[in-house]
Amino acid sequence: MAEVVILDSRAAAGALVADEIVRLVDEVRNPVLGLATGSTPLPVYEALRERLAGHDVSHVRGFALDEYVGLDVTHPESYRSVITREVIEPLGLDPELIRVPNGALETVRHAGDDYEREIIDAGGVDLQILGIGTDGHIGFNEPGSSFASTTRLKTLTEQTRADNARFFDSLDEVPRHCITQGLGTILRARHLVLLAFGVAKAEAVAAALEGPVSAMIPASAVQLHPHVTVVVDEAAASRLELADYYRYSYENKPSWQGI
Ligand code: F6R
Repeated sequence: MAEVVILDSRAAAGALVADEIVRLVDEVRNPVLGLATGSTPLPVYEALRERLAGHDVSHVRGFALDEYVGLDVTHPESYRSVITREVIEPLGLDPELIRVPNGALETVRHAGDDYEREIIDAGGVDLQILGIGTDGHIGFNEPGSSFASTTRLKTLTEQTRADNARFFDSLDEVPRHCITQGLGTILRARHLVLLAFGVAKAEAVAAALEGPVSAMIPASAVQLHPHVTVVVDEAAASRLELADYYRYSYENKPSWQGI
């Protein structure tokens, strides 16, 4: 069962996850982070700025979950640009060690396999940050995705395009395709940290954690993983049947246990 941590604010959630990442950076010889984009992980990246200042980060590797296909990599909303702006530059990471799937049309046929190989060669992901879509996706694994899937081309649902239109001037500009780590790829990471904020995510969170494991809710794949931490605010937790138990369990957690 996933550990579910319900906190008052996004800042508190960001701080909790950032503390765990700092521990990895300091203690693991070659730490590999799985990076999400979108709004959800921003409090984590913000909290890391202060916490990582003065730490040696030259050895930190990272793999983004996904990238739009057919959007120029220099576009401000390409995930390469977002990761550069939100993660690489403010945290002082080595851009060569932080990878984003290649969404260029010319190479998209083999870009998935290339990316899988890079992740394996890096020794796999230690801690994977995940957001969740209102349709239950993780990465851009839309409903119906195989639980064994690896990095590949996917078509975005209209719901996801509409959700992401806020980053573009119009809905028409939102790409229709992406390249995303598969559910199988994500499940190979050693620790999954799923974050969700706001009432718009409440239904997807409840379905993912307390509903049946189903391809219709790709995030329900986390139920198959042995080490999952879900960090949510009260609004995103509002549809969880076991919310009181999660609170009780977290409050009574032995102090030596990390997340
Ligand atoms: C982003 C990603 C997506 C987002 C999800 C939630 O790399 O893989 O699964 O995490 O769409 O997006 P936000 O955080 O913008 O609500």
